[in-house]
Amino acid sequence: MKSYITTPIYYVNDKPHMGHAYATIHADVMHRIKKMAGYKSFFLTGADEHGEKIAKASAAQNITNEEFVQQNAEHFISAWKVLNIDYSFFVRTSSHFHKDFVQKLLQKLYDAGDIYSAEYEGLYSVGQERFVTEKELVNGKVPEDKDPPIIRKEKNYFFRMEKYQGWIKEYLADHPDLISPPQYANEVLQMLNDDIGDLSISRPRERLSWGIPIPWDNDHVTYVWFDALLSYLSAIHHADPDDVEALWHSSNHIIGKDILKTHTIFWLSMCKALGFTPYKRLLVSGHLLGSDGRKMSKSLGNGVDPLYAVEKYTSDVLRYTLIKELRFGSDGIISEEVIQQRLNNDLANDIGNLLSRTVAMINKYSNGMPPVLSEQTLQHHFLIKLAAQTFDSMMPLVDEMKLSMAYEKALEFVRELNKFINDTRPWDLFKQGDKLQLDETLSVLFYSLDVTSRLFYPVIPEKMIVMRDILGLINETLTWQLPTPAISKHPVAKSVPPLFEKIIN
Ligand code: ME8
Repeated sequence: MKSYITTPIYYVNDKPHMGHAYATIHADVMHRIKKMAGYKSFFLTGADEHGEKIAKASAAQNITNEEFVQQNAEHFISAWKVLNIDYSFFVRTSSHFHKDFVQKLLQKLYDAGDIYSAEYEGLYSVGQERFVTEKELVNGKVPEDKDPPIIRKEKNYFFRMEKYQGWIKEYLADHPDLISPPQYANEVLQMLNDDIGDLSISRPRERLSWGIPIPWDNDHVTYVWFDALLSYLSAIHHADPDDVEALWHSSNHIIGKDILKTHTIFWLSMCKALGFTPYKRLLVSGHLLGSDGRKMSKSLGNGVDPLYAVEKYTSDVLRYTLIKELRFGSDGIISEEVIQQRLNNDLANDIGNLLSRTVAMINKYSNGMPPVLSEQTLQHHFLIKLAAQTFDSMMPLVDEMKLSMAYEKALEFVRELNKFINDTRPWDLFKQGDKLQLDETLSVLFYSLDVTSRLFYPVIPEKMIVMRDILGLINETLTWQLPTPAISKHPVAKSVPPLFEKIIN
């Protein structure tokens, strides 16, 4: 069982922002769940280091492009460390292995007659790093851009993309699940109703020297998107050469809706021309909005900086909020208020209270040693059945990247456990001296907390390790299934500080 998950390969012209954190945390959670479920999972993220945006930003700082990308790639690497991102490989598009890979494939397309040179004049958006059409403009500019496009006339090499237009349509028709959620597949089909044109894949070196040289013409460098998309393949060829085929067949690309066109029209036609089967799945997210309801952006100043949020709320709390708050594929607001609500309600009230109540009861009624779940209870108790169902029902949602819905199920399990405490009233069982019933109740709760820590570990790994420590559950590989009930050798912790500190304004 193999799994390959990628984030967009981010432009490192600036520091990582909340949108980058959003996609990366989603990939990380999928990766961790797949590993727990026994898959060999490969998780790729990285830095898109060429192109005009980067060249402009490094010129503004008066340092070389090489120094600039080195410094900024490190910002990303350290941000992912702080956010507990467990990637398998961080690709940098300025690496030698990647350059060689891109040049080899360019040459292959050129030799096959799929690339030609022509004089081209058109509207060019520096923000999007591509030629744009009049149709894409609103009030004279691409909505996401700061500046209007410029008119550009130059010799470019072109990839015969239009040749593959009919094939892309057929491929999408034959693979209705290729793009998820399906509204984005419809958007692509709309784009295919117009001519897609051929794709300019080079820039003259006199205007932009920062890029991968075109192998047969040293006066030109490769267009940044042609280069970056290929990193999804160059990375696994480099980092896991023996498993390229299997990984590629199980590939999931996570992207934001702003880069849908490049990941479908461009990338699918490139795959076809190069003789690669396309990726297995494209998982498309919506946009994070600021508290003012507009797309989060640095220029509007309406965003929350992810590193600030980690500092103030911890990485687990930010990870959980980004997973739980929005339906993947739809836009939604991420503000400090939203983070605080998730912290106070789901994490502190539901999970934190469940832990402290259970540990207090095990200390009070069972001398700190959790009673062992009997075989009978394991087979028949409704909460154990619910636990098994929760593992099973979350997995298909994870495959669709519907993590918010998946974690609603995990949260429902936690809420059922809190309700179970209220309904069974262990304090009354203790008073009544009903030891049998009391032991069963505590054994179910203890076992279910082991389950809870497995369900939530992929999203809030730090706190779930703390929780397992408190429970005396240590040194165990966490799996995505019902654990074997163990005879506990360690007592639970004597006193439990709150797992999550609430924020009261
Ligand atoms: O496009 N809400 O890199 P990039 C949600 N280098 N997600 C957001 C977001 C927001 N407000 N803003 C950005 C590139 N994102 C190329 C990719 S891939 C071969 C090359 C996320 O640094 C979202 O996933 O501009 C978006 O697609 C990605 O950041 C773009 O990152």
